[in-house]
Amino acid sequence: MINEKMAKALNEQINKEFYSSYLYLQMAAYFEDMGLKGFANWMRVQAQEENSHAHKFYDYLVDRGGKVVLEAIEKPNNDFKSVLDVFEKTLEHEIYVTSLINNLMDVAEEVKDRASLSFLKWFIDEQVEEESNCEDIIAQLKIVDCSGDALFMMDREMAQRVYVAPSQN
Ligand code: FEO
Repeated sequence: MINEKMAKALNEQINKEFYSSYLYLQMAAYFEDMGLKGFANWMRVQAQEENSHAHKFYDYLVDRGGKVVLEAIEKPNNDFKSVLDVFEKTLEHEIYVTSLINNLMDVAEEVKDRASLSFLKWFIDEQVEEESNCEDIIAQLKIVDCSGDALFMMDREMAQRVYVAPSQN
């Protein structure tokens, strides 16, 4: 049976992951509105990934005999100024998520929950990748200056992203 404090923290994270999915879906809608189908695709895949993260926490909590309690999902920001602004906000959000995962690690250490420490390791690695992907896109957007043919080409590249379900490990 999982420690109560740990279960509460994991429940909160389920909500944060669903919020992340919601936020990225809102960002996808912004790109749809601009006619940037490739960027919209990239964000929709990102939203799917976040949904899968929520389910990963959900499944883990169930496996450990914890009670899943879903809360309301906050309304995401929809005030975006440019393509670059969206990705800067994405990076900011991912840095925040990294801090949440680190906090979960702290709780797992505090309650000496080795299974949770092992489970959370996947998310620690995932966050490195998430932040790095955003940084790369921001760097590219700064080079193309968010305009013209280069942005159109980048949009075609972003259209290539496909959703891959995360491993069960
Ligand atoms: Fe679930 Fe992008 O962190």
